[in-house]
Amino acid sequence: MKLTYNCTIPNTFGLPVHAACLLEYDSAAELRALLVDGRFSAELPLPLLHIGSGSNLLFTGDFPGTVLHSRIGGIEEMPFHDEKQAVVRVGSGVVWDQFCLWAAQQGYWGPENLAAIPGEVGAAAVQNIGAYGREVKDIVECVECLDLQELTMVTIPGSDCGYGYRESRFKNEWKGRYVVIAVQFRLRKDEWTELDYGHVRQALIARYGGDIGLSPMEVRQVIVDIRAGKLPSPTEIGSAGSFFRNPFILPEQYARIAAIAEKDGLGPVPHFMNEDGTVKVPAAWLIEKCGWKGYRDGNAGVYEKQPLVLINATGRATPDEIVALKDKIIDSVRTRFGVLLRPEVEII
Ligand code: EPU
Repeated sequence: MKLTYNCTIPNTFGLPVHAACLLEYDSAAELRALLVDGRFSAELPLPLLHIGSGSNLLFTGDFPGTVLHSRIGGIEEMPFHDEKQAVVRVGSGVVWDQFCLWAAQQGYWGPENLAAIPGEVGAAAVQNIGAYGREVKDIVECVECLDLQELTMVTIPGSDCGYGYRESRFKNEWKGRYVVIAVQFRLRKDEWTELDYGHVRQALIARYGGDIGLSPMEVRQVIVDIRAGKLPSPTEIGSAGSFFRNPFILPEQYARIAAIAEKDGLGPVPHFMNEDGTVKVPAAWLIEKCGWKGYRDGNAGVYEKQPLVLINATGRATPDEIVALKDKIIDSVRTRFGVLLRPEVEII
């Protein structure tokens, strides 16, 4: 366990924000002793805030309480005998992409489309991270948590987690109740691909000459390359990945946007029909058509290859600059297209 006072909060935006206290724990037992049995709790400044690696957070200023961070490691196969599947238990503090790489190296299918997403395993299960046609919910068998209300360990089946697009019960009615200790994933040993998003299939064919006899490692490599071409590397440019969610709108709203696009010569409006009858329009398109792609405002900016990503362009941005830019983008998209963009990142 590591307890640090008055320190910088880890955040991939690279913002200079500080917490009164940062507590990193290495096991469920440690956390339980601290929070449940109350051994140190009186010393910990309040409130408490649980974070992963800070890759989906925007801190609007210093945090007056204690930031908690899991360092629980470990990737272990569960005793589960099936020729076609494996169940793997992964500690909440494992870096998400290390797990993705491990799975691909074993030849296990499931997380390869989610390769190179920044963050850690616990946060991935809370946020239901997704990319290139696959979401974490597709492979979560169950989530092992410390229940702060009942003071017990619980194992919650993936099917009870209320997973939806970047949503889960952990983010809503369960907020603050459960701390993820480990996640069990159900992976497949036989080929299980999802190649129909964007240009994934074409990129695979271009690189490997066809999809016969593919391995998870090959798919992973193509996804890593696609991401590198579109998204800023967190080690070079500060960001929190997609800043906004893709909006799901009503068909009549979509018709209004299509009419605006036709009148203004914006070309066809990209869209995807959802099962519930709503229409998903890429926030990136709406933002680009409002003229923000590559925009710079002081130290904050909009990434030139993917306008869904707000960036700390100089490395010296302040939270206020990012917040001001976010507000301007929301206002302009609402004024031009009548769509209210919702942030995907959590604003603290
Ligand atoms: N688009 C533009 N201009 C651009 C880029 C994209 O108009 O500069 C339009 C295009 O029509 C394109 C569409 O947006 O077809 C979708 O673009 P992309 O495939 O890049 O995906 P996205 O919807 O913008 C989502 C996730 C990403 C994930 C990609 C790939 C959200 C909020 N974001 O972005 O996730 O990597 O799909 O699956 O759902 C993240 O969450 O941090 C993240 C990067």
